[in-house]
Amino acid sequence: MPSSSSWMPRMTPWSSTPGSPPSRPVPRLPRRSSSSPRRSSGKRRRPVSRLPIASRYGRRGGLPDEPWSRGNNSSPSPVTSHMTTIGIIGAGNIGSQVARKAVENGYDVVISNSRGPETLTELVAELGPKATAGTAIQAAEAADVAVVTVPLKAYADVPVEPLAGKIVVDTNNYYFERDGHIDALDAGATTVSGMLQEHLPTSRVAKGFNHITAADITADGFPQGDPKRRALATSSDFADASDFVTKLYDEFGFDTVNIGPLSESWRVERDRPAYGSRQTVPELEANLAKAPRTI
Ligand SMILES: NC(=O)c1ccc[n+]([C@@H]2O[C@H](COP(=O)([O-])OP(=O)(O)OC[C@H]3O[C@@H](n4cnc5c(N)ncnc54)[C@H](OP(=O)(O)O)[C@@H]3O)[C@@H](O)[C@H]2O)c1
Repeated sequence: MPSSSSWMPRMTPWSSTPGSPPSRPVPRLPRRSSSSPRRSSGKRRRPVSRLPIASRYGRRGGLPDEPWSRGNNSSPSPVTSHMTTIGIIGAGNIGSQVARKAVENGYDVVISNSRGPETLTELVAELGPKATAGTAIQAAEAADVAVVTVPLKAYADVPVEPLAGKIVVDTNNYYFERDGHIDALDAGATTVSGMLQEHLPTSRVAKGFNHITAADITADGFPQGDPKRRALATSSDFADASDFVTKLYDEFGFDTVNIGPLSESWRVERDRPAYGSRQTVPELEANLAKAPRTI
């Protein structure tokens, strides 16, 4: 089982360390040959501390035809990677990097942008036969699990119906300089991923990859137990959605801290202490605890 830590807000003095993921060029890594050993074998395991998220927020299993619920497995991580298509909406810094690691880990990928699949020929050629390009609707339709990674100002364009019943990983951050001011976010009345969940009421949204620089997704993963292994946060109102992100993080080489419901996900939003910096599980937990609600 992937290593993860569930985390509860604590009453601690608030402090703030401003910071945002620096913009670095995205490296193209050599593709791993199919005979390479998978990182998932022979993992060392860390003790897992889990909150009873399911009882607090209600656990909903995947639909019967979803890979997430395939088989009668009571394991929290039943996805079989090579049977799963990740539909990616957004093919920029983050979308392309998630696609690279997903393909490397055996997933099929359908990736999309705003301009159309014909503009993604080069990326798809680099990704190889497990990747295809489509429109955002096609990526959503093909997805067993989707990743939404567009500028926040475009979140309302994300197709709703084709994502119904599916887990949707939300990488988005709020930059008013880019996205325009959103009063509810400025006032601390909602969260970035809470807005996407509202837009996708029949999907199960989980926050993921929002506080790591795109380049680090392919360059900074380490096997379980490696002292250099860094932790990333997730958050969801649905246990199977945060479990999926935990599994994906683990496959990509990262530990997980589960913040809990989306209403708490502001703790890892822009300019909070946990945003952008390289952290272990205890460091991330400490940074989440001292995050201020508004900045
Ligand atoms: N860059 C980072 O290091 C980083 C780190 C963590 C989180 N984030 C967050 O993750 C999100 C994506 O960031 P990014 O840096 O990857 O952005 P980006 O490089 O600007 O890429 C955005 C992608 O979204 C596509 N897109 C825009 N509007 C769309 C629409 N209506 N339908 C479908 N696709 C659409 C764009 O397509 P076109 O190119 O065709 O317009 C582009 O492929 C942002 O919210 C960002 O704040 C970024």
